[in-house]
Amino acid sequence: MGKVIAIASQKGGVGKTTTTVNLAASLATMRQRTLVLDLDEQNAVGFGLGLTRQQMESGLYDVFLGRAKLGEVIHNTMLPYLKTIPYGKGTLTDEFEKFVRQKGSAPLLKKYVDALRKSTDYILIDCPPGMGDLTIYALSATDSVLVPMQCEPLSLKTLTQILKIIRKVRRQINPELVIEGLLLTMYDENFRIAREVCQQVWASFPEEVVFRNVIPRMEEFSSAFAVGKPIITQDPEAEVAKAYLQLAREVMAKRKKELDDKAAEGGESA
Ligand SMILES: Nc1ncnc2c1ncn2[C@@H]1O[C@H](COP(=O)(O)OP(=O)(O)OP(=O)(O)O)[C@@H](O)[C@H]1O
Ligand SMILES: [Mg+2]
Repeated sequence: MGKVIAIASQKGGVGKTTTTVNLAASLATMRQRTLVLDLDEQNAVGFGLGLTRQQMESGLYDVFLGRAKLGEVIHNTMLPYLKTIPYGKGTLTDEFEKFVRQKGSAPLLKKYVDALRKSTDYILIDCPPGMGDLTIYALSATDSVLVPMQCEPLSLKTLTQILKIIRKVRRQINPELVIEGLLLTMYDENFRIAREVCQQVWASFPEEVVFRNVIPRMEEFSSAFAVGKPIITQDPEAEVAKAYLQLAREVMAKRKKELDDKAAEGGESA
């Protein structure tokens, strides 16, 4: 049974999609069957994984509205162990807004995710910026949430907000929800303030809540991403590619520990 990780943040532009795409590619490189679900209408995951525009014509949006079946919108990528379901072409129309707000529709994403986890090792869900309905859906359907944050003071403020929301979802909808980890991204050691924010995050949270590994800032990154390939398939020696591989190892180690603990409790194992 695969593990589901949502990548979410209150703040836009913090590296959610970049992390989703590159963590997924790193897991897939290590032969983990990985599926990325795009919950953001920008369809950035599809671009990041090299889908064609035609492949992004329909996706989760259409499945939600009953216009497509899950199996019809899953696409292979350049990596054999990596598949993705795009968001689709729909925008947040009244129809969709109404749909996502309907009472009783919240468990739908969970139903899809549970059906998909049987044939995968990891499902990563890329959330849109903010804590709107779709992000709450994702938090309701996922096992854990990975929160990327930039190494700047404002991030600490928004972090408190997202942690509050995670606690609320855990209390009201998904009691199993855990924090996969806070991930410091776009780190530039030349900036004192970036170093200070990192220190503050490490000092303020328990060790198991913050990833050891920090993702460095890499200027060429945007262009690599724009041509539709994860950095690891372009330049595996780049610092940022190595950092994402290291992150994948941390995620896999955590998973192994969870399964070992479960087995020790006499529960089901993988
Ligand atoms: N490590 C990095 N070094 C340099 N640039 C980066 C890095 N990670 C991400 N970026 C750039 O930062 C921008 C925002 O990243 P990304 O789109 O992943 O954020 P996001 O949180 O998904 O944004 P949104 O909230 O709009 O969905 C992009 O232009 C991306 O290429
Ligand atoms: Mg994004």
